[in-house]
Amino acid sequence: MQLGIDDLAFATADRYLDLANLAPVHGVEVAKYTVGLGQDRMSVCAPDEDVVTLAAAAALPLVEDLDEDGIASIRTVLLATESGIDQSKSAGVYVHRLLGLSPAARVVELKQACYAGTSALQMALALVARNPEQKVLVICSDVARYDVGSSGEPTQGCGAVAMLVTADPRLVAIEPLSGLHTSDVMDFWRPNYRTTAVVDGRLSIRAYTDSLTGAWQDLQAQGGPAFGDIDAFVYHQPFTKMATKAHAHLTRIAGAPRDAEVMEAQVADTLRYNREIGNSYTASMYIGLASLLDHATEDLAGSRIGFFSYGSGAVGEMFTGVVQPGYRAHLRAAAHRRLLDERVEVTHPEYLEIVAPVNPVDGGDHTIAPVTRNPFRMSAITGHQRVYERTAAADAAVA
Ligand code: HMG
Repeated sequence: MQLGIDDLAFATADRYLDLANLAPVHGVEVAKYTVGLGQDRMSVCAPDEDVVTLAAAAALPLVEDLDEDGIASIRTVLLATESGIDQSKSAGVYVHRLLGLSPAARVVELKQACYAGTSALQMALALVARNPEQKVLVICSDVARYDVGSSGEPTQGCGAVAMLVTADPRLVAIEPLSGLHTSDVMDFWRPNYRTTAVVDGRLSIRAYTDSLTGAWQDLQAQGGPAFGDIDAFVYHQPFTKMATKAHAHLTRIAGAPRDAEVMEAQVADTLRYNREIGNSYTASMYIGLASLLDHATEDLAGSRIGFFSYGSGAVGEMFTGVVQPGYRAHLRAAAHRRLLDERVEVTHPEYLEIVAPVNPVDGGDHTIAPVTRNPFRMSAITGHQRVYERTAAADAAVA
């Protein structure tokens, strides 16, 4: 029996900043962002969006495509995020209600920077192995924020990915071996009292590649596939150039042939969506997977994909999956394209107005004006409680 990703969709905010409008503010050429970092745009959350609304939007099409029995078979929801909205209650519990899932389910939130989505996927696979009749809904949802004016600012973004993990998956079967690497390093973190991350940019790039080395070596020690037996590579993408750098690093340490054209072909299709979205932390690598599946012109059925998931702090995992025959019939490429094309562009002053999250601490009644055209929104924070609602867009998505 094979286990893996049966369905996958992503969501992002419905507005974006073109990095051509950020470069002059930072006094740099736009090529520093488009070429140096490999980023064109960043998604920017409206004041009525957060990780809950993004997560619910990503999962809505998956749930809408299930019948009553299918929905009842989702007995676990794992939500990975490092942009949590509460120290106690899981963001996933709000999402569970917004999606109308069965009360006969467990819901939990996982955290280890950008890596947590992969831990959720691995735990989901273990649960499905125990009972192949059950489905696990894995959601990765994040809003990446750095200080305004900092070097991390052009790598901001936001997004969520929802994956249905099942037996006999229709998209990608995940293979059992993983290479793991953990090391206590202060490359990027966000203390409880901050809304933006603290980062040592140079160290973070070194920590990422060190982790890749460790995870690759462990995968080999575990008996995992050789470099030459992997057809495409999906890396965590804090900015897409990082994936290109990581791939060059892996080819070096794996002693693989270093033909520039072949190396580019092994990652190019994984980068397309994230160039337009920016960093979405836990969701980023899985948006990279969607990008590969949605854009590959050749049929990838039977191809082996290598995944490298990295979360600062730092945990890395390298694992592989095999694309399933007939996967193309189950992709959501047109919806993903529409989502990105229909975003509204904001100017730099507009971005500055909406980039800070709504975060009243007085326990009063704070109504939040409708802005987003996404299927779910936060309508108020009242008595310290976040209030969420479906919008007309959710009903349109169902119709
Ligand atoms: P910086 O100091 O502004 O940029 O910060 P730089 O000076 O290093 O330049 C960046 C690249 O642009 C360089 O390319 C320049 O040469 C090039 P490289 O040499 O590295 O290949 N460049 C140009 N190219 C074309 N035309 C030009 C031009 N000028 C310069 N005119 C940094 C860059 C990434 C450090 C910063 O954006 C940052 O701190 N970002 C946040 C941290 C980050 O993303 N780290 C990545 C690894 S850690 C990770 O992935 C985990 C994370 O997702 C969090 C989590 O796990 O939760 C972040």
